[in-house]
Amino acid sequence: MISLAALILFSLTSFSNCKEYTFPDNFKFGVATSAYQVEGAWNVGGKGENIWDYMTHTNPSSILDKSNGDIACDSYNKIKEDVQLLKNLGVDFYRFSISWSRILPSGKTEYINPDGIRYYNELIDELLANNIEPLVTMHHFDLPQPLEEEGGFLNLAIADYFEDYADVLYKNFGDRVKEWTTFNEPTPVCFLGYSGEFLAPMITRKDGGYLCGRTLLIAHAKAYHLYNKRYRASQKGRIGIVHNIFWFEPRTNSIKDLQAAEAANEFNFGWFANPIFSKEGDYPQIMKGSIEYASKQEGLPKSRLPELTQEEIELIKGSADFLGINHYTTFYCSPIEEEGIGKGLFYLPDMDANCVMDEKADGSASFWLKVIPSGFRNSLNWIKEQYNNPEEQYNNPEVIILENGISDDGNLLNDCLRVNYNNLYLTEMLKAIHEDGCNVSGYAAWSFMDNFEWTSGYTQKFGLYSVDFDDPARPRTPKMSAFVFKNIIQERKINWTYTPEGFGKCDGPKLKDEL
Ligand SMILES: *[C@@H]1O[C@H](CO)[C@@H](O)[C@H](O)[C@H]1NC(C)=O
Ligand SMILES: *[C@@H]1O[C@H](CO)[C@@H](O)[C@H](O)[C@H]1NC(C)=O
Repeated sequence: MISLAALILFSLTSFSNCKEYTFPDNFKFGVATSAYQVEGAWNVGGKGENIWDYMTHTNPSSILDKSNGDIACDSYNKIKEDVQLLKNLGVDFYRFSISWSRILPSGKTEYINPDGIRYYNELIDELLANNIEPLVTMHHFDLPQPLEEEGGFLNLAIADYFEDYADVLYKNFGDRVKEWTTFNEPTPVCFLGYSGEFLAPMITRKDGGYLCGRTLLIAHAKAYHLYNKRYRASQKGRIGIVHNIFWFEPRTNSIKDLQAAEAANEFNFGWFANPIFSKEGDYPQIMKGSIEYASKQEGLPKSRLPELTQEEIELIKGSADFLGINHYTTFYCSPIEEEGIGKGLFYLPDMDANCVMDEKADGSASFWLKVIPSGFRNSLNWIKEQYNNPEEQYNNPEVIILENGISDDGNLLNDCLRVNYNNLYLTEMLKAIHEDGCNVSGYAAWSFMDNFEWTSGYTQKFGLYSVDFDDPARPRTPKMSAFVFKNIIQERKINWTYTPEGFGKCDGPKLKDEL
């Protein structure tokens, strides 16, 4: 009896200890969107065509519901309304992206579109007038189509056009925008866009992803150095980049599985983080070695991974003031030859890893997204250990979470799946901060509102606000998760029993027992 009471007391205490972690005083909260996914007005006010306009119009079948972002959430026409919703949420910052084609219709600076400058000026000013910081991404999947017709990221010249575009942004908005990120999710941009059929422009060259990666890293570094040279002293802002980190665990404790998981983490995340944040710079060794070996086996004269020159390595190394992170889920890896596993979502010969989902974990409307909160803490710890160089520029680099969230498939306002996911993942993030000393300074939920989810169209909803896409006025309605997020921002801690007025109680996640 006594021991049972002690046990209950112990578990209550340890549970409430976890619950009591608060968000540090200077920790910032935000929500995120991207231009193509919410703006609409695809050909309004002189905007040029980008690769998503082109692909959705010329090949509608590439999108699950044959939809497009022509109107999307119509955010182009809803600056005041949306900023009021942000203000009601109580966020410190709003992460959005600028449409390159709205600023430079041809992709180049030969013509700067006045309506593009006007639109983002109004958005930025309205945010600041309401005490919300803009955190701006320069490229979120939407390359101008005329630049794609010159080879897109397979063409190294794109790096110079990107630098010119960044110059226009600093010049016009840098007096008010203090937090910039260059690219969103380079791995999907390159791997799924130039070596796969999941994102525009859907080019399927075996070396396409790696060629794209080189251009993108050089473009990022040029934009960073341009800021240092011409703008940093007067504008005093910061430049980062946004990497997605899927977390890869070994499927078993075998050495082979450990190696497969490590390779997967280096290929997916290290590919773009190592050249910027590691002491040595350059691609991860394991990536260089594996691709060279595979290329030799194929009888190629040289590696499919183009080498970075020493000059390029130095240009890229150290070229960020913070590390933006998008995190959603976790996979479990074995080497490819391991039998009886079946092809996983990440079945990648170059890295000899076959990574599968945990079919028992809670799912979502997205086939690639399972609820595995521990992977968030593991990712943050891996980053801390991997790029922790006491004598160097990056010693436990500052991380800002710029996307985290989950999809469902309906206009469900009582969105317990999202409430539980956010609470669970934020709890793991708090443990990473308080117990592991990870350097996380902010968190943006994906997404502010339901929007165009790339090749899944409007079939997957990630929003804290629902949007009625059948109504021309695109009305927004807060879901339960919006109220719960607002409560977290206000109280600066997670309240597992908080139920906003008018909503049904959530059962609480299965995983809660494990906290
Ligand atoms: C976090 O990063 C910032 C910026 O690089 C740095 O000044 C700070 O010392 C870091 N904090 C920790 C706990 O490592
Ligand atoms: C959690 O929220 C409920 C309201 O739903 C409130 O009664 C309770 O005091 C809150 N708990 C904490 C610890 O803030």
